[in-house]
Amino acid sequence: LVGCSVQPVGGSGVFEELSLFACSPTDLSELLKEGTKESHDRAENTQFVKDFLKGRIKKELFKRATVALYFTYSALEEEMDRNKDNPVFAPLYFPVELHRREALVKDLKYFYGEGWKEKIQCSEATQHYVDRIHHVGQHEPELLVAHAYTRYMGDLSGGQVLKKVAQRALKLPSTEEGIQFYVFDNVSNAQQFKQLYRARMNALDLDKNTKERIVEEANRAFRFNMQVFDELDEIGRSLTEEAQDGGLPAHDGKGDLRKCPYYADKLGRSWATAELPQACGTRLAALTVLSVF
Ligand code: HEM
Repeated sequence: LVGCSVQPVGGSGVFEELSLFACSPTDLSELLKEGTKESHDRAENTQFVKDFLKGRIKKELFKRATVALYFTYSALEEEMDRNKDNPVFAPLYFPVELHRREALVKDLKYFYGEGWKEKIQCSEATQHYVDRIHHVGQHEPELLVAHAYTRYMGDLSGGQVLKKVAQRALKLPSTEEGIQFYVFDNVSNAQQFKQLYRARMNALDLDKNTKERIVEEANRAFRFNMQVFDELDEIGRSLTEEAQDGGLPAHDGKGDLRKCPYYADKLGRSWATAELPQACGTRLAALTVLSVF
């Protein structure tokens, strides 16, 4: 089976579990990987994620994404704390290695200052995701693993790439301020840690039906993430230039952009080739992208 070959790792302690890790198609880790493949492809192909990977993300939008993550991980980690002694989740409780809330608080302090809490709010799509996490944690805790898997395994997989992209695109300091979310100080080897996590998921005592419900819930978690991405994409399109990282000044969104001397001058040659918008406003973002990238 592809993805099942486990390199036995030496040493002692929890990593010894890995040498016992034999993979079978009915293992939860395999069912999740196979059962969420399509969702993963779809998530990778959302506009927001594609733009992010190309470094096309403005600071204001990155800040909003950090806010969404803050509310999501606050809910997730609250529910994981609640279920830390529940056998359906306890083996996957790794607060020191994985929990992101504190890292996100640091990022929000960096972006919004000490009064960060008063300056942020939970978006609609994020609220739906948060509500579902709380429901699961309180009423169907056997499904909590699906939410933890979808986020932390993803973070440990693509995080390093995204960290570099964000650092470069937003010109963030090399001291990693603003991107603490992507830094797992207590995971020295992400690949090994993911194997440990898979082994722990497979050791949960679950019947076939519960495993199927967990896979279904993981696909649901992917959908919540995609809804948050789509919402961010929408916000990105409607941000004024001023909000977009001190770019071009905001415009009132009315009238013909070609009659605005500032833009005609500012956009210069790209103006000639750009598809001219009917009006300013939301389509300014598209024009700025044309002129900046
Ligand atoms: C930026 C676009 C993305 C890229 C390039 C990417 C890339 C990858 C790669 C290469 C792996 C395999 C790592 C391995 O087997 O060790 C992986 C795994 C994973 N990713 Fe992503 N990913 C992206 C977005 C996402 C998103 C948006 C989510 C969910 C919110 C996600 C969740 C996961 C999960 C849960 C796994 C673990 C799969 C498993 O081994 O069971 N990824 N990703």
